[in-house]
Amino acid sequence: MKSSLEQLAIFGGVPAFQEKLHVGRPNIGNRERLLERINQLLDRKWLTNGGPFEQEFEERVAALLGVRHCISICSGTVALEIAFRASGLTGEVIVPSFTFIATAHALQWQKITPVFCDIDPHTHTLDPAKVEQLITTRTSGIVGVHVWGQSCDVKALTDIAGRHELKLLFDAAHAFGCSYEGRPIGNFGDAEVFSFHATKFFNTFEGGAIVTNDDALAAAVRLMRNFGFTGYDDVISVGTNGKMSEISAAMGLTGLESLEDFIAVNYRNYKCYQQELADLPGIRLFPHNESQRGNYQYIVLEIDQAVTQISRDRLMQVLWAENILARRYFYPGCHRMEPYSSHYSDAAQPLPETEKIADRVLCLPTGMSVTPTDIAVICRIIRTAIQGVDAVNRRLETGAARI
Ligand SMILES: Cc1ncc(COP(=O)(O)O)c(C=O)c1O
Repeated sequence: MKSSLEQLAIFGGVPAFQEKLHVGRPNIGNRERLLERINQLLDRKWLTNGGPFEQEFEERVAALLGVRHCISICSGTVALEIAFRASGLTGEVIVPSFTFIATAHALQWQKITPVFCDIDPHTHTLDPAKVEQLITTRTSGIVGVHVWGQSCDVKALTDIAGRHELKLLFDAAHAFGCSYEGRPIGNFGDAEVFSFHATKFFNTFEGGAIVTNDDALAAAVRLMRNFGFTGYDDVISVGTNGKMSEISAAMGLTGLESLEDFIAVNYRNYKCYQQELADLPGIRLFPHNESQRGNYQYIVLEIDQAVTQISRDRLMQVLWAENILARRYFYPGCHRMEPYSSHYSDAAQPLPETEKIADRVLCLPTGMSVTPTDIAVICRIIRTAIQGVDAVNRRLETGAARI
């Protein structure tokens, strides 16, 4: 355990971890069960196109969430594209800038303009009052993002969408297994979209799903996912290839059997971080709302430099030198990335909370491969760096500790 400055790797100490500790290292369920399923699909020679694993996966997810339809898709991004297109979004759509770029790209890809809205600094999700200010005659919908698994203010957004006759969809890429007011995420708006990418706590290698209680929308999504085919030779509309393969569905079925274990370990880790970082001025551990079901897959720090005197980026440098690959999230915000930054105007669409949060957030490693001892080591390093902030800043200023 490092407790003095000289032990820190930026000052020449041995890195705390020999192997790199990643944020979002994949959780793998029971390997034997997975290999059994892979053997079955190979024996069946049914590798994709609505195979038995895909069907079973969709049924299980729909049952788990209590939702009428789950349509599995090859990635979260393609799921967003299909969901947006099938629900008829056009013109302008209001989205947060504080999200993964795929939320904005899935609109832009279809020539729909993402209009970036600021967030509530406490929940990091869309600020409903600001959404309302951005509605124009060209607005066709609102896309909320349940960042970190923290649900948006679903009630307020549903009310706004209803009053203005707008579509309401949710990017629920972070929120599989979470709830809002006691009801599973997946049941809100016109449709919700999950990502089962390898870095998510529950994964299908690559993958995603669209879930909805709207029968007509589900039918449109199913058509689009498979080139618009209704039968062997019958194409009735435009579509794409969004199908989930059998091997991904096999991974998903296997992961579902361990879902509760994944969440229990994430929760244990969250509690450890909470305890280890308590009373550290200027460091806020994003508080998951424990009155709702959560998946606790993100450990999110907000670093208030005015108090800590160390910037988020310098703290990240300290951690990277120790092989703790902490990550900035959604930095610098979609509106600061192309093609959006060329059209974005600070004056027309100020996003002060987004800017502030994107400059402060640092995500730390968690998941099945991170232990309470690892967490104690990580937090002790953070504490040591903050306590010796002047020396750390001097060291990093000189460039002597560049990583
Ligand atoms: C908020 C958000 N939306 C969309 C995506 C895209 O999902 P995928 O990587 O499965 O395409 C991700 C994650 O990667 C995400 O974090």
